Amino acid sequence: MLRVGIIGCGDIANLNVLGYLHSHDTEIVAVSDTDINKAREKLEQWGLRTIKIYTDYKEMVSREDLDIVEILTPHHLHGPMTEYCAKEGIRGISVQKPMAHTISDCDNMIKVCEEEKVILKVYENFRFYPVYLRAKELLENGIIGNLLNFRINSINAGGPSMPRDLKSTGWRRKFDICGGGPWVYDDGIHKFSMALWLMGQERVEQVYSWIDYFSAIWDGPSYIIWRYPRNNDDETPRYGIFEITIAPNLYYPTNYYVCDEYIEISGTKGLMWINQCTCGGNFISKSSQFPPIIVYNNGEVNTYGNELPRDWRYSFINSTEHFIEVMKSGGTPIYNGEQGKSLTIFAKMAHLSDQKKGPIFWEEMTSENEINHSCSVEEPKNINTAELSRYFSRIRKDLKKGKQAGLITKELKYDKDLLVE
Ligand SMILES: NC(=O)c1ccc[n+]([C@@H]2O[C@H](COP(=O)([O-])OP(=O)(O)OC[C@H]3O[C@@H](n4cnc5c(N)ncnc54)[C@H](O)[C@@H]3O)[C@@H](O)[C@H]2O)c1
Repeated sequence: MLRVGIIGCGDIANLNVLGYLHSHDTEIVAVSDTDINKAREKLEQWGLRTIKIYTDYKEMVSREDLDIVEILTPHHLHGPMTEYCAKEGIRGISVQKPMAHTISDCDNMIKVCEEEKVILKVYENFRFYPVYLRAKELLENGIIGNLLNFRINSINAGGPSMPRDLKSTGWRRKFDICGGGPWVYDDGIHKFSMALWLMGQERVEQVYSWIDYFSAIWDGPSYIIWRYPRNNDDETPRYGIFEITIAPNLYYPTNYYVCDEYIEISGTKGLMWINQCTCGGNFISKSSQFPPIIVYNNGEVNTYGNELPRDWRYSFINSTEHFIEVMKSGGTPIYNGEQGKSLTIFAKMAHLSDQKKGPIFWEEMTSENEINHSCSVEEPKNINTAELSRYFSRIRKDLKKGKQAGLITKELKYDKDLLVE
């Protein structure tokens, strides 16, 4: 039985624990959080009331003989916590995305884990969402030919959605803690991950972006464009775009974060649309207009993935199960340190392009350049904070309207039986 310790019992811990809760190979033996009440509340919710809580993760590591730690804390802590756990002999470290708040920290995490022979996983769960896995299989079978362009629209709507701790949004607005903005750097990692993985790429060549901070807190609406590397001059250049839509008046009920994703991929023989990820399973999914995957090729339109579970939680369960398997039987985690670092670089390029008002090239993004400040992402200045209260009042009005209309969100239930497919 692999002994698991969790560091950070915030919002995402609810989803990260799912894969462990119904695993026969692991046991959550302890948790750590500087906020003991939060840890207690979570253990109660997960049905693990009797396990030990530590307010100091170092004490948990030294006392609990752990095989695995899950690091679920703000981004500036990912690096130091990974380094500490690796040096203390933990065999498997799973750290939530983004890997860290700087490229230098990513480099150090990779180095230390290699030296200490630690299996390091960067937890990016979209990569395991059942609909996306099916889309990837179809693309690899050549359903739309060679892939040309990629587009993802990430819509941040008005809810109602899962309740969130206010503190959890607070640290995300500080670039020195978060590493960038909440939508481009934090949530954006998932979208950059899809832009690489679905398109069969390891990196991009250059990025150009426009980030608007109209609400004073969110790094959107944003348009981030990139070019994929070309293998030869005869190849059609391939591009991708990530659009961040800020729509606080859009009524959009969900059990999770109030952000949903729509992907479109063009190929030499066809087109593919992938509807929804984070909010998959809400009332939109139930309509016939939004099947999970739509493909046009050879003069025909077909849909795919209708039999799959459309619930974001499965991306977490699948991701954790994959890691447990790697811990048991060997193999490479998804993602490994180098891949996690690439996502960090991609997201930083987007911020840097907006900062410098020009294209950013992959080669520029090194820890050396970060240290000499030629590629360090800075908190934007001159943001108009007057918009903030109007922005929040729009959101509140929206929620009220939705609730009056009788459309309310369901609470997440941690019934283990529900989790077994
Ligand atoms: N995969 C996803 O879809 C997804 C979604 C949300 C968050 N995340 C990631 O999960 C991580 C945590 O995000 P969150 O939303 O749960 O944040 P959160 O603020 O809700 O939770 C963080 C927790 O860490 C605790 N903490 C802070 N310092 C600590 C310390 N020194 N020792 C122990 N605990 C400490 C805090 O008290 C808090 O409970 C981040 O990396 C975030 O990007 C991933």
